[in-house]
Amino acid sequence: MSTSTIEERFTLTTTDDEIFINNFSEDVKIGLTSESKYLPFVYFYDHIGSQLFEKICELPEYYLTRAETNILESNADDIASQFSEETVLVELGSGSSTKTRILIETFLERQSLAHYTPIDVSLQMLEESSYSLLREYPDLEINAIAARYNEGIEHMNIRNDQQNLITWLGSSIGNLERSEVTTLLQHIQETMHPDDRFLVGIDLRKDKTIIENAYNDTQGITAEFNLNLLTHVNRELGGNFNTENFDHHAVYNEEVGRIEMYLISNIDQKVFIRELDLDVSFAANESIHTENSFKYSLDEIDMLAGQTGLYVEQQWFDPARLFSLNLFAPVAG
Ligand code: AVJ
Repeated sequence: MSTSTIEERFTLTTTDDEIFINNFSEDVKIGLTSESKYLPFVYFYDHIGSQLFEKICELPEYYLTRAETNILESNADDIASQFSEETVLVELGSGSSTKTRILIETFLERQSLAHYTPIDVSLQMLEESSYSLLREYPDLEINAIAARYNEGIEHMNIRNDQQNLITWLGSSIGNLERSEVTTLLQHIQETMHPDDRFLVGIDLRKDKTIIENAYNDTQGITAEFNLNLLTHVNRELGGNFNTENFDHHAVYNEEVGRIEMYLISNIDQKVFIRELDLDVSFAANESIHTENSFKYSLDEIDMLAGQTGLYVEQQWFDPARLFSLNLFAPVAG
């Protein structure tokens, strides 16, 4: 049992200040003046949006979180048994670290000390979740990094010679274009030591109805989450969007293998955004594309690994095979 204080078990590294510069106004301007209107999905996650997302994770239709948690709970022991006391558990986009708790606890059941390095752009989230973990687990050490994935990975690599188990959970991979994923994984693979491993939660291609229901819940929480993007613009940029004049639309594009989310104007209307001094006209039925969520087949996961110098060393599924947890290892040489 460790007797060190929370402060002694915690460091926080912030990378370039540049990453915290908010491009919200510029991004909204570009997205809403473009020929096909869009808004970047990253702006879903203001305070209200983050709370709505937590609610989404508990919806009966939203199988992703439950399936991944189930896989982690059933296999955490198997996973942890492959790593040592010195292994650093690194997490990309750690957020509130809920699912990682399962891994941390399993590590701590097997060994006297555990090391955790959460990487997240939200400094506030990092501090809050780190302190809560440190209070809960007296034998946990945290070296948090406030950064985007790429910079965070570089940093993790500079600071340790130990074996790393890097995790990227929650199917966050789904928000990136397939080509962006390839670039990111290539970069991660380049920074990996031969005995490092990369654990990634990936939602699978499956029956269209199951997927569409997950993004069209009967309680309308996902619709609220989507429409909150407009409220976010109103609040931060002085917009006058009336959310009643837009409808949530989520459709599975089977060929491409992705959910596409839109906000559809249900009337002819004009919206003014004060901070941008911008008038935006919408025809009835015109849409704003707000999110893509890519799904993968097992072949696509293998191909992705092959393109990035990795291979799938182990793979786990929930009983219904809706979701996958993938342990990638660097190809030797
Ligand atoms: C956070 C990207 C995994 O795509 O399922 C949930 C976001 N959007 N419902 C997903 C989301 C609408 C979620 N990810």
